[in-house]
Amino acid sequence: MNLHEPVNILMVDDQPGKLLTYEAILAPLGERLLQASSGREALEHLLKTDVAVVLMDVSMPEIDGYQLADMIREHPRFQKTAIIFISAVHLTDVDRLKGYERGAVDYIAVPVIPELLRAKVSVFAELYRKTLQLKRLNRELEQRVIDRTEELRQSESQFRSLANSIPQLAWMANPDASIFWYNQRWYDYTGTTLDEMKGQAWKDLIHPDHVAEVVAGIERCWAIDEPWEDTFPLWGKDGSYRWFLSRALPIRDANGNVVRWFGTNTDITERKQAEEALIKSERMAAMGRLAGIIAHEINNPLEAISNAFYLLRANSSLNQEARRYARLAQEELTRLAHITKQILGFYRDSKQVVAVSLSEILDNVIELQSRRLQLNGIGVERHYTTRGTIQGYPLELKQVFLNLIGNAVQAMPEGGRLRIRLLESSQTGSGRSGMRVSISDTGVGIRSEHTKRIFEPFFSTKEAKGTGLGLWISKGIIQKYEGTIRFRSVQVGSGKVTCFSVFIPAFAAIHSPEATAALIA
Ligand SMILES: Nc1ncnc2c1ncn2[C@@H]1O[C@H](COP(=O)(O)OP(=O)(O)OP(=O)(O)O)[C@@H](O)[C@H]1O
Ligand SMILES: [Mg+2]
Repeated sequence: MNLHEPVNILMVDDQPGKLLTYEAILAPLGERLLQASSGREALEHLLKTDVAVVLMDVSMPEIDGYQLADMIREHPRFQKTAIIFISAVHLTDVDRLKGYERGAVDYIAVPVIPELLRAKVSVFAELYRKTLQLKRLNRELEQRVIDRTEELRQSESQFRSLANSIPQLAWMANPDASIFWYNQRWYDYTGTTLDEMKGQAWKDLIHPDHVAEVVAGIERCWAIDEPWEDTFPLWGKDGSYRWFLSRALPIRDANGNVVRWFGTNTDITERKQAEEALIKSERMAAMGRLAGIIAHEINNPLEAISNAFYLLRANSSLNQEARRYARLAQEELTRLAHITKQILGFYRDSKQVVAVSLSEILDNVIELQSRRLQLNGIGVERHYTTRGTIQGYPLELKQVFLNLIGNAVQAMPEGGRLRIRLLESSQTGSGRSGMRVSISDTGVGIRSEHTKRIFEPFFSTKEAKGTGLGLWISKGIIQKYEGTIRFRSVQVGSGKVTCFSVFIPAFAAIHSPEATAALIA
C-alpha cells in the first residue's frame, strides 16, 4: 500500500437515502465507499475485505448498531476497527457511553454536519493507512533482521569452518592487541581455553627470549596499521616450543578505520631445521674443500721438512738433547703428515674403476693391524660368506676399512674381541643388492652425546692421537658408491658392543672424486 492508496469505508444504514447522503459527503475523500443496508450485509463485507472505518446507524431493524458493533468486535481481526455511530434519537450520555464500551471510536449526531463527518472519517482513514504502513514497515524490518541474521550465521559458520580447516593457528584481535577469538587449532596446539587466553595472555606462550621483541614489533605495526610479520617459538601443550611464522593483517570498516586484526601462525619448525642442516652441510662441504686445498699445499714442504729432520737426527754432530728435540719434532711431523695423507687420499683417488674383493681388502687391513691386535690382546673373528667383489677404487676402500678397524682396535686398549663379517645383502630402503661389511668390537663404546657428532670432521675423543677425519672421510667415500654407513653402540652385560655396518651396492654409478667432495656432510 502506498501513501495515498484508498482504504475501505463501510457505511451501514437501512435507509438507502441516508447511504446516498453519506456517499455524497465522503466522496471528496477519494476513499473506496462500501454500502450495506443491514447488519448482515455489513458482516458479509467485513468478512470479504478489510475495512478502515465502519460508519453505522444505531437504530436499524433486525440487528441494531450496538449489536452489530458487538458482533464486529468479537472477531479478532476487527477488534481495533474504527466505528462511527450515527444516531438521530439516542444521544444521551448513556448512549454515548454504551457506544464507547463497545470500543467505538466516535459518535455523530443527526443532523450530520458534512464537514464534521468528512473530517472524522478522514482522520480514521488516515490513521488506518498509517497503521497499515507501519505494520508493513515492521514486517519488512523483521524480515530484514531475519535475513541478515541468517546471512551472518551462514558467513560466521563458513568463516569458522574455514578457519578451523586451515593448517595454521589463527586468531582475531582488537586494535589494542587483545585477542578475542582463536581457531580450534590454536587450542589443540596450546592446550588452552578461550577464558585462559582472553586479552593479552598470548604473551605468556611466546618464548621468554623473544617476547619483548615480538611485542615491540606488534606495537610498531599496530600503531601505523601496517601488516605485521615475525618468526618466533610458541609454547605447545607438550611442553616444547616450536617455531612459527606469524602474520597479521588489519581489517578495516567502510571508513577505512581498523576495527580488528586477523592473524595466523604457521609452524615452520621443520623448514627451519632443514635450513639449518643445509647451512651446516654447506659449511662442512666448504670446510672439506678448504681442508683438501690446505693439505695439498702443505704436503710437499712437509715431506721436505720430514726428510730434513730424518737427516738431522742421523747427524753425529748433534748432542743427545738436540737429537731428542729432532725426534720430537719428527714425531709431530708424522702426525701432521697423517692428517694430510687422510685428506689427500680422499681427494686424489681418480684412477679407473676395477673389480675389488672386499675380503682381500679386509684381510690386508687386519694384517696391517696385526701387531696392534696382538699387543692389545684382541681376538679376531672373521665370517666371510662371499669374496665380496664390487666395482670400485681399492685404495679408498682400504682407507675406509683401515679407519673402521683402526677405530675398533683403538677402542679396545685393554683387549677384547673384533668381529668382522662380510656377506651379500640388500640395501634397506632401495632394495639394491650389494655387500655388507660389519665390524664390531667390545671396546669402550660411543657415548650417546657423541652419536650425532662422530661423522663430523675433526670430531675426535682421542685428543692428540686422532685427527677426527677418519669417519668423515669414510662416509664421503661410501656415499660416492651410493652406499650407507651406520653404527650402533649398545650395552651388553657389563661391557659394550659397538658395530659399524657398511653397505656397498655391487654396481654403483660412482661419482667423480670432485662430486664426492660436495657430498661430504
Ligand atoms: N669403534 C669405536 N668405538 C668407540 N668410539 C668410536 C669408534 N669408532 C669411532 N669412535 C668415535 O668416533 C670418533 C671419530 O672417529 P674418527 O675415525 O672420525 O676419528 P678418530 O679415530 O678420532 O681420528 P683418526 O681417524 O683421524 O685417527 C672417535 O674419536 C671416537 O670417539
Ligand atoms: Mg679413526
